[in-house]
Amino acid sequence: MGPTDANVNGAVHGGAVMRLCDEAAGIAGARHAGHMVVTAAMARMTFLLPIRIGQLLTFRASVNAAWRTSMEVGVRVEAEDLATGTARHTNSAYLTMVAVDAQGRPAQVPPLLVEDDEGRRREREAQLRRSGALNEREAILAERAARGEPLP
Ligand SMILES: CC(C)(COP(=O)(O)OP(=O)(O)OC[C@H]1O[C@@H](n2cnc3c(N)ncnc32)[C@H](O)[C@@H]1OP(=O)(O)O)[C@@H](O)C(=O)NCCC(=O)NCCS
Repeated sequence: MGPTDANVNGAVHGGAVMRLCDEAAGIAGARHAGHMVVTAAMARMTFLLPIRIGQLLTFRASVNAAWRTSMEVGVRVEAEDLATGTARHTNSAYLTMVAVDAQGRPAQVPPLLVEDDEGRRREREAQLRRSGALNEREAILAERAARGEPLP
């Protein structure tokens, strides 16, 4: 990360890391889908440790679950201190990417072939995050309807 990635405290700006997470997730999603993808949502982004200017970031993105046209992609970020070679896990992110056709309409994605326990755990947890987000949305809509407030 270089000087243009800095925030006012001199560490790396969180938004710079989010942007790169989005790009890594887009590549993983497009590879799986065989289509262009768009970001529908960033479900969660955690900042575990500050990243210093001069550290080398590695982004590892994997498709955790695939539904009809959407996928959850998890991204793990590690920051390496080039002088010592020490790498630390600094961020994790979960994004929902949607495959789209040339007209920008959602396109079907292939099913995910999960072959090991780690993959099955990721898929289960992705399903929990999706269910949680849908439940939250329904609860907010019901609350607004009950109060007579405008619906989105
Ligand atoms: C994402 C987008 C293609 C979805 O279009 P849509 O008309 O709502 O399509 P659908 O309702 O059929 O939803 C398609 C899929 O997206 C998922 N989806 C849509 N909005 C979502 C959200 N906010 N969070 C999670 N998933 C979402 C749906 O669950 C569905 O998944 P499934 O087919 O696997 O069940 C559309 O909203 C879009 O183009 N958004 C802008 C994306 C973009 O430009 N991103 C970059 C921003 S700079």
